[in-house]
Amino acid sequence: MPTEKIAVIPGSFDPVTNGHLDIIERTASLFDKVYVCVLRNGAKKPLFTTEERMELIRRVTGRLPNVSVESFDGLLVNYARDKGAGFIVKGLRAVSDFEYEFQMALTNKSLNPEVETFFITTSRSYSYLSSSIVKEVARYGGDISDFVPAEIENDIIEKIGG
Ligand code: PNS
Repeated sequence: MPTEKIAVIPGSFDPVTNGHLDIIERTASLFDKVYVCVLRNGAKKPLFTTEERMELIRRVTGRLPNVSVESFDGLLVNYARDKGAGFIVKGLRAVSDFEYEFQMALTNKSLNPEVETFFITTSRSYSYLSSSIVKEVARYGGDISDFVPAEIENDIIEKIGG
């Protein structure tokens, strides 16, 4: 087991929201090193390419020295093993998240018992937030400034409008 506490935060991040950023910041304050990982092999058809999603996350996490942004393709536990990470950190918004997250955590535990999944409860103000909701509001010209970091707001509006 590595002595350094290394965590992986996986996700689609299409795009990163204030809810994600809250989880990333809190994880960064608890662990020595944090890898934010953008899933490459997702079934969903993303709005942003993997590289664009990584760039947006890098822009909003640039001030966090122990956070790196990468992508992965394949099984999350294999990525965690390659990074020497003993922890997967996920944000839990509501009871509706729980069943799927629980299933993934147990699957990952079965695939690699040395990797622990930690759940962080999202801050109340972001408990309703998701990337899908952000895209929906932006698509109809709504104000997304409460939902995403200011540095990436225009990227989302332009991408959806273009
Ligand atoms: O942001 P999302 O879409 O909820 O993230 C889902 C993610 C990336 C965490 C999940 O799909 C994942 O871990 N995919 C990698 C494939 C894998 O390891 N599957 C086995 C565990 S379910």
